[in-house]
Amino acid sequence: MSLQTNNDTLITVFGGSGFLGRHLVRALAKRHYRIRVAVRRPDLAGHLQPLGRVGQIHAVQANVRHPQSVEAAVRDSDIVINLVGILFERGRQRFDAVHAEGAENVARAAAAQGARMIHVSALGAAESSPSLYAQAKAQGERAVLAASPRATIFRPSVMFGPEDDFFNRFGSMARFLPALPLIGGGETKFQPAFVGDVAEAIARAVEGQAKDGTIYELGGPEVRTFRQLMEYVLATIERRRLLVPLPFPLAKLQAQFLQFLPKPPLTPDQVELLRSDNVVSGRAIREGRTMQDLGIAPTGMEAVVPSYLWRFRKTGQYRVHSA
Ligand SMILES: NC(=O)c1ccc[n+]([C@@H]2O[C@H](COP(=O)([O-])OP(=O)(O)OC[C@H]3O[C@@H](n4cnc5c(N)ncnc54)[C@H](OP(=O)(O)O)[C@@H]3O)[C@@H](O)[C@H]2O)c1
Repeated sequence: MSLQTNNDTLITVFGGSGFLGRHLVRALAKRHYRIRVAVRRPDLAGHLQPLGRVGQIHAVQANVRHPQSVEAAVRDSDIVINLVGILFERGRQRFDAVHAEGAENVARAAAAQGARMIHVSALGAAESSPSLYAQAKAQGERAVLAASPRATIFRPSVMFGPEDDFFNRFGSMARFLPALPLIGGGETKFQPAFVGDVAEAIARAVEGQAKDGTIYELGGPEVRTFRQLMEYVLATIERRRLLVPLPFPLAKLQAQFLQFLPKPPLTPDQVELLRSDNVVSGRAIREGRTMQDLGIAPTGMEAVVPSYLWRFRKTGQYRVHSA
């Protein structure tokens, strides 16, 4: 009975070709929904096809910065999910244009269509933040709730999974750098969430298990400092590297230069973001706005991270055993 209903439900996922996108599309495809993936480069979304049946997943061209393309992409949708986000600015891809105006364009188009809206923001979103990324994320949340008051919003902490940016980046850096930097001394706290759990939380919201007009904060079972995460990466890839504390002003200076690299490892805005802890708030826990409140037992790093970080070991997946 419910299979029939889901087959009839069209979900448009903006940003469905990204890291979280592929896990969400898989979770929705398993539940038999019809999925339209809206991205700037549908030709690069071919990797999603094997996640569903023939014809179940369809990619269309849309840019959240262009309202007309957004309106065309949400046509006939029952549910609209916005995952679009950027880590650094390039050309017209500015934080305010993508995270704030882009989110507003999607929410308005969803409301005009009468579709339910689910939006992904980030922990740390705050209009008072010194980071433009976090400011724009907060403006986006506000715009989404204004256009679509029943929307559900998710704020994940840093996410881990095979294609993640965080653990893979530091694992890769440890291969060729003699030392890893501890920005601001490495005291900032994180609560890494498994990307599959975040996708599951969104899928449960699709099924009506999340509260309307509510901002959920999604973190994993462990709170770790940046230093502890670096130590964890090094232990997992079986490499010894110096961990060098880099005060915030020095990190910012270095980031002024690094930001011009094609895929910058650090930007001045990210240094600002690192000044605040990235963990689920006590208020979200008290108010029942967490992963656990959606019935999900969050997956720990140990269960997943070694399965893809092994490639940064000197011996790859082959351990050297001493007799
Ligand atoms: N990864 C994390 O640890 C983390 C932590 C907290 C919050 N988040 C948030 O979670 C969401 C998903 O993150 P992710 O890591 O999956 O990101 P991602 O891998 O970078 O994917 C971003 C997606 O957005 C699309 N996109 C970018 N600019 C666009 C535009 N102007 N119009 C339409 N589509 C556009 C990209 O496809 P095209 O380039 O083909 O358009 C891609 O599909 C984001 O909102 C992010 O801010 C992520």
